[in-house]
Amino acid sequence: MNDNAPLIEALEAYFQLMNANGAARVYHDALRLGILDAMRDGATTPAQVAAACRLQERPTALLLDVLCAMGLARRDADSIGLSLLAMMLLSGSYRELGNEYWDHLPALLATGRPLVQMDRVEESESHYQGQAAALAWMLSPSAEAAAAALGVGTSLSDLAILDVGAGSAIWSLSMCRRDAGTTTTALDWPAVLEIARQTADGLGLADRLTLLPGDFHDMPLPAARFDLAIVANVSHLQTPADNQELFVRVRAALKPGGRIAVIDVMPGQQRGDLNRALYGLGLALRTEQGQVYAPQQLEAWLSSAGFGPAQRHDLAVPPYVVGMLVAAGV
Ligand SMILES: C[S@@+](CC[C@H](N)C(=O)[O-])C[C@H]1O[C@@H](n2cnc3c(N)ncnc32)[C@H](O)[C@@H]1O
Repeated sequence: MNDNAPLIEALEAYFQLMNANGAARVYHDALRLGILDAMRDGATTPAQVAAACRLQERPTALLLDVLCAMGLARRDADSIGLSLLAMMLLSGSYRELGNEYWDHLPALLATGRPLVQMDRVEESESHYQGQAAALAWMLSPSAEAAAAALGVGTSLSDLAILDVGAGSAIWSLSMCRRDAGTTTTALDWPAVLEIARQTADGLGLADRLTLLPGDFHDMPLPAARFDLAIVANVSHLQTPADNQELFVRVRAALKPGGRIAVIDVMPGQQRGDLNRALYGLGLALRTEQGQVYAPQQLEAWLSSAGFGPAQRHDLAVPPYVVGMLVAAGV
């Protein structure tokens, strides 16, 4: 054991913290001072950015170096432009990096009350209408990894999928993309399903998507119709009793031997530890009863809903926190 190990560990944590703070400060100031907007509008050199924002050229050039190192800007010969990440942040609901929620942290700690209740039926549709597209972007590598782990397009084909709480339907559409015979039925609130429709259009998969608008707690589901049900990032919004009941309803909608894939934040990937802890706190900021359940808890509900033993897959792509439990009806 290296004597320096505790120091190295402390220094790694120190630099990570200082970098995270510095990077966040630079991002917010670049946003507030109009630097990112000026770049989006065509300023491509430090001089042009500084002139557009009435700033000094030298510190502006240094800040642009930081934006490049953060992956928010790209240097190309003599010019600098915004990266895909910066464009996504500027145009999406994470423009402020979630500060709308983090600003509420002291109040949450003092009162235990969240800022919003995204898990309430009355609030869920409008919140997720705004979030579903960003989730599609964030989760598309995870969705690809899930489709590959299931063997869609190789050992599995021609699936009829039910995507429960589908949001953008990125999980099931990624499976459709790998296999021409696979179709999906997306169940979610009507306004959220509009995002699923747009996602399918963008992927050229509109003809493989059927929309099932409504509340997944009481929407009648066709019996024994589907080969695979996806319940992705839904369990953490539900009470234990609601999860259990949902798995029973999903079980009845599957063909004999049909499978369920429960996808959610799960422990197991060390690279995702901080992300997962922040996610748990974030959930407390935006839901009344949301919580990340242990995989063993999800497995117990699956078992009592009539599913066999679950196979666990950790999806080893960013954000390194997503796991998938796959179980077949018995
Ligand atoms: C965290 S999002 C996950 C979306 C998608 N499965 C994904 O992983 O990107 C939860 C989804 O469940 C939907 N949802 C929540 N409660 C619902 C309910 N009672 N009936 C139908 N959809 C619901 C929300 O509208 C939202 O799209």
